[in-house]
Amino acid sequence: MDIDDAPSTPGKWKMEKPHHRHHPRLLLPRWHHSYPVSKLVFWSFFALALFLAIFLLSPRSSAPARTPDSFASSSTSSGVRRAALQMAPWGGPAWEKRVRSSARVRRNPGGASVLVTGAAGFVGMHVAAALKRRGDGVLGLDNFNGYYDPSLKRARQALLDRAGVFVVEGDINDGALLRKLFDVVPFTHVVHLAAQAGVRHALVDPASYVHSNVAGLVSVLEAAKAADPQPAIVWASSSSVYGLNSRVPFSEAHRTDRPASLYAATKKAGEEIAHAYNHIYGLSITGLRFFTVYGPWGRPDMAYFFFTRDILLGKPVSIFEGPDHATVARDFTYIDDIVKGCLAALDHAGKSTGSGGKKRGPAPLRIYNLGNTSPVPVTKLVSILERLLKVKAVKKLVKMPRNGDVQFTHANITFAQKELGYRPTTGLHTGLKKFVRWYLEYYSISLSKNDSKGRRISS
Ligand SMILES: NC(=O)c1ccc[n+]([C@@H]2O[C@H](COP(=O)([O-])OP(=O)(O)OC[C@H]3O[C@@H](n4cnc5c(N)ncnc54)[C@H](O)[C@@H]3O)[C@@H](O)[C@H]2O)c1
Repeated sequence: MDIDDAPSTPGKWKMEKPHHRHHPRLLLPRWHHSYPVSKLVFWSFFALALFLAIFLLSPRSSAPARTPDSFASSSTSSGVRRAALQMAPWGGPAWEKRVRSSARVRRNPGGASVLVTGAAGFVGMHVAAALKRRGDGVLGLDNFNGYYDPSLKRARQALLDRAGVFVVEGDINDGALLRKLFDVVPFTHVVHLAAQAGVRHALVDPASYVHSNVAGLVSVLEAAKAADPQPAIVWASSSSVYGLNSRVPFSEAHRTDRPASLYAATKKAGEEIAHAYNHIYGLSITGLRFFTVYGPWGRPDMAYFFFTRDILLGKPVSIFEGPDHATVARDFTYIDDIVKGCLAALDHAGKSTGSGGKKRGPAPLRIYNLGNTSPVPVTKLVSILERLLKVKAVKKLVKMPRNGDVQFTHANITFAQKELGYRPTTGLHTGLKKFVRWYLEYYSISLSKNDSKGRRISS
């Protein structure tokens, strides 16, 4: 039973009827004289038991509720993470049947059976849906944390559910759950996308990055290395590992030992951890360094998303500038291109060579940039949004704070092109057009209701 379901008072207990006969020698002092000792003993034990129960249960049940739209205040307590670890009941024949059915390869003979972690997330949902569409078996896993509006994650889950993908609610740090999933399904691949994303939130809740991006990754790799057969792993690193690197375009051969944020440091740690698991256990591991992914069903904590919201609300949008008014630019990459890159990485992943935790030979270990190769200044992003939304933005130029953001990203994708056939095809204008169409529909906003200044206030 869930802790929250436990009755807070023992309301169903029947009170004993009072005794009317007392042995004179057992009578207590006057103000207690109507209570027999047996009752006192009973209530003392009851109070003690209640106290112990509250004491033992309170750390789990006192986790603060995460507010839907606040990613800044969402995960300030390790209680949230503890709660996440024991969130959903799992197991049982019906649950196992659902897991098996979701992960079963449908069309696509010789297709993959894939565990997608972070499936209720932005990239995870798109990847899981694309795999399912082509006939692969897909099972999702996500803890639905409150870093950003969980109702968006639930809506993505509902969409996947309609497509035949079951998203198990659980934390990647739950080793018993992972072992169970690998017992039930001989996954051929894991696409590991679950992570604490976002650069700035690390100032608020650094532990969540260690929990999901370091401990969580180790937990997934532990389960994968012990599985028989061992799956091949494709996982999301990040362009942020380039950190203070100023050579452009960023190439996989460039140094990545100067992260500018804790988020970047945890992704870099992930790349080193991947090396160790590949080396010791023969796991085939492919790391993908995504460059600023955007598109429909995107993440509300990303600039293109909250700029859209703020422009429509007539609120000022802060545009960062580097030192000496230098432009801040990003290599914005459209979600469909990223999905194609993920699927190609999965299709080109060599097999893991170990079994049951024992290495039998060398296995592939790869890292690829997945970007768009054309950085766009953030000012240009805003002007495209203004045109698509038909609203003038209230712009505020702000010096870029030192909170982990870097001034410029630009991907060199030569390796991914050569080895995966990766070729991004969507420019920023086209991609944002698709995003804006989704945004307006999802939030039921009609642009025709603009005020005299061309601003939309509410949906
Ligand atoms: N979107 C980008 O621009 C971008 C850029 C670089 C790298 N990445 C990486 O790509 C991956 C996907 O990013 P996204 O944009 O879809 O982010 P997202 O936050 O939308 O998705 C991540 C999902 O993982 C889940 N999750 C987090 N911690 C978990 C845990 N401990 N157990 C189970 N589930 C957990 C979250 O609930 C969320 O649904 C992440 O690894 C991210 O770091 C994304």
